[in-house]
Amino acid sequence: MSLHILGTGSYLPPTVATNDDLAKLVDTNDEWISTRTGIRSRHVSTDEPASVLAAKAAKAALENSGVRAEELDLILCATVSGEFIVPSMACLVQREIGATCPGFDLNGACSAFLFLMETAAAYLSTGRYQKILIVGTEQMSRILDWTDRSTCILFGDGAGAAVLEPGEDYLGSHMTVKGGEEVLRVPTHKGISPFWTAGEEHPYVYMNGSETYKFATRSIPQEVEALLSQCGVEQSQVDWVICHQANRRIIEAAARRLKGIPAEKFLMNIDHCGNCSAASVPILLDECNRKGIFHRGDLILMCAFGGGLSSTACLVRW
Ligand code: UT7
Repeated sequence: MSLHILGTGSYLPPTVATNDDLAKLVDTNDEWISTRTGIRSRHVSTDEPASVLAAKAAKAALENSGVRAEELDLILCATVSGEFIVPSMACLVQREIGATCPGFDLNGACSAFLFLMETAAAYLSTGRYQKILIVGTEQMSRILDWTDRSTCILFGDGAGAAVLEPGEDYLGSHMTVKGGEEVLRVPTHKGISPFWTAGEEHPYVYMNGSETYKFATRSIPQEVEALLSQCGVEQSQVDWVICHQANRRIIEAAARRLKGIPAEKFLMNIDHCGNCSAASVPILLDECNRKGIFHRGDLILMCAFGGGLSSTACLVRW
């Protein structure tokens, strides 16, 4: 499939909540959070909803790419914490950045950025689209149960974006879904139907942490091994790994399984971002891009997992 990454962008809201700050809200402490997850702080939005975070990341990606908003042919967004169900996040971003092209959203939870890449690559392959903006954005703080210490300490707010054009740099992808809501879900509001008689569940993140952990540590290496063998690429040829930032221990466990990829190739920003769900992969991608870590021709392996349950991996040439 066709894809070349022209540029990236990200935006983190300025307010930072440290583990000590959260210890004032729930029965937790910096030592527990940092040793179990690798998280020391996360950004939290105080007045910018997910669409504003998205538009700021999108503008940064356009600038990094040297592309004007009017040149975009399509906008694809992903979020689980947008302020509206209608209009879509893509419609709000289109207006905010001054684009005129169509756009739509997809829901892939923490794997969403890889689903966006896959969708964009398919559209670019048709030859009908020349410039596609993809954005993952989350205001996770609005859908967390701030009395549940097992989930509220894990997530952060932010947005990441990339501008894509046709090219030969999407070397392959591998995606798996194991459908079900038992392990990880965010219910919607039950509404006020006078006919509805069944119960209500709080519209906040619910996660069985240990089941998610087991799923992640098993599925990431499986996806990566399947992807690399499909692409005919050895682990030793991979230059960098951008993995969904859910837990440092999950990434380290995956690195131990994938023995051919040295542990230092697994890039991380979880210490200051936490888990930004659909925004996690593109925020890290942009941070590394701006630090000048990537060189032309580098093979970047991206992998993610999350609600669905889903696990995904793709290989991109920088
Ligand atoms: O992007 C979505 C994907 N999400 C993930 O990948 C998350 C995957 N899961 C995890 O990262 C880990 O399971 C957690 C970090 C969520 C939990 O770590 P754990 O080592 O699996 O802890 P646990 O759930 O087994 O809990 C151990 C203990 C429990 O106490 P008891 O029952 O042993 O007395 C918990 O109540 O830790 C307690 N605990 C806490 N203590 C202090 C749970 N949360 C906290 C907390 N602070 N924030």
